[in-house]
Amino acid sequence: MKKKILILGLGYVGITLFAALMKKNKIHELYGVDNSKELIKNLKNKKFITYEKNLLNIFNKYKKNNIFFDSQINTNIKYDIIIICVGTPIKSNKKINDKFLFDAVKDISKSLNNNSLVIIRSTVKVGTTKNIYKFLNKITKVKFHIAFCPERTIEGNAIEEITKLPQLVGCIDKNTKKLTSDFFKILTKKLIFFETFEEPELIKLLDNSYRDSKFAFANQVAIICDQLNLNAMKIIQKANKNFTRNAIPLPGPVGGPCLSKDPYILDQSTKQNSSLITQSRKINEKYVELFSNKIIKFSKKLNEKNINFSIIGISFKGKPDTNDIRDSTALKIIEKIKSEFPHSKIYIFDKFVETRKIKNLDCIKINKIDDCFKKNVCIIHGNNNYIKSIDINKKLNNNAKVFVFDFWDNFSNITNPLNKKRYSGLGI
Ligand SMILES: NC(=O)c1ccc[n+]([C@@H]2O[C@H](COP(=O)([O-])OP(=O)(O)OC[C@H]3O[C@@H](n4cnc5c(N)ncnc54)[C@H](O)[C@@H]3O)[C@@H](O)[C@H]2O)c1
Repeated sequence: MKKKILILGLGYVGITLFAALMKKNKIHELYGVDNSKELIKNLKNKKFITYEKNLLNIFNKYKKNNIFFDSQINTNIKYDIIIICVGTPIKSNKKINDKFLFDAVKDISKSLNNNSLVIIRSTVKVGTTKNIYKFLNKITKVKFHIAFCPERTIEGNAIEEITKLPQLVGCIDKNTKKLTSDFFKILTKKLIFFETFEEPELIKLLDNSYRDSKFAFANQVAIICDQLNLNAMKIIQKANKNFTRNAIPLPGPVGGPCLSKDPYILDQSTKQNSSLITQSRKINEKYVELFSNKIIKFSKKLNEKNINFSIIGISFKGKPDTNDIRDSTALKIIEKIKSEFPHSKIYIFDKFVETRKIKNLDCIKINKIDDCFKKNVCIIHGNNNYIKSIDINKKLNNNAKVFVFDFWDNFSNITNPLNKKRYSGLGI
């Protein structure tokens, strides 16, 4: 039976789900609504906020008559399935801001019929779906169904992953289970069911908190190595070598819209402080702070009137590539440089981040990666493949003045001992 499917919120999560459905769904009508008029205008012109593998190809190939975009919900339509993908950021006090989510729930309340299925896809504090259920019950007269099914894909490869990863489905009755599995079967047969909302709510938060904690261990090693004057990368690689009980990740900056907030949201889900998880988050924050302090301390010692800085790679991660700078640790470094060196210029090279975003940061976009090494201090923030392929020996030989700080210790092949002295990091 032909259904009307609405995706509310077409940001990073909503648009990739929409694209995956465009590709796989043949019969249903797909409606995409985002209350940002600019986003909808851009979308209609196939301009996307996210750099995502195959997104444009899918829009070129599969845009058919059963696809609609708007900045408002069409109040004349009753939708069979509504998937809410709006943002749930944290506030400056690290508490979740679920206003957008509850506003979105209010917005859909008049667009449901007696068999409609509402899927909450946004990341939430444990217990939120139950509250949404109660809230929606109060403001609508119809008997709707509700499920919590979190997004677990990786930015940059989400459209492919969405059909490969198991989908978690939390719902409390058999009819909802059937409706939700019929929906997800458009994308994948791999479904994991729960009879509560809270279990998948918790798993979503655990996923990111676990990753954050693993990276925190590596970053703690880097902090220790820095104090002991040892190379963290070498220590970790050799500790892992042929010793399967160790799988220590490599140190590096940990930011982005998920890992920098989900541990705090998990922490708020219980009255007890989940100390390992929040401590890990704090170690990852500390790592960036110590790294930035090292750059600042060094730069202050340079006998230059106006020091110029360059940063290579400012997106929040390099694997897979993304243009997303939300909560990127690079922003913290930029902020710090600006407060300590208000008259200095910051030049940025990033293959994926748009010029507009760099201008908004009040920085200068550099078009040639080579030019980054013509500045006094060059900070390598990313570990993308295009960064790893830099010929570092050549850059250091050709630019006698530059000093390089590398977050990822991307280059273990610096041959000239004098050049080695111009390459540093935390635990490098
Ligand atoms: N980015 C990721 O890769 C990722 C991964 C897993 C989970 N999540 C979670 O998914 C959710 C969405 O994340 P995102 O990165 O896509 O956020 P986003 O900020 O990129 O997108 C949210 C979109 O919702 C729109 N919106 C807000 N209120 C609306 C309303 N009432 N009606 C219509 N549109 C509305 C906004 O304009 C925005 O475009 C968050 O809870 C996030 O934590 C994100």
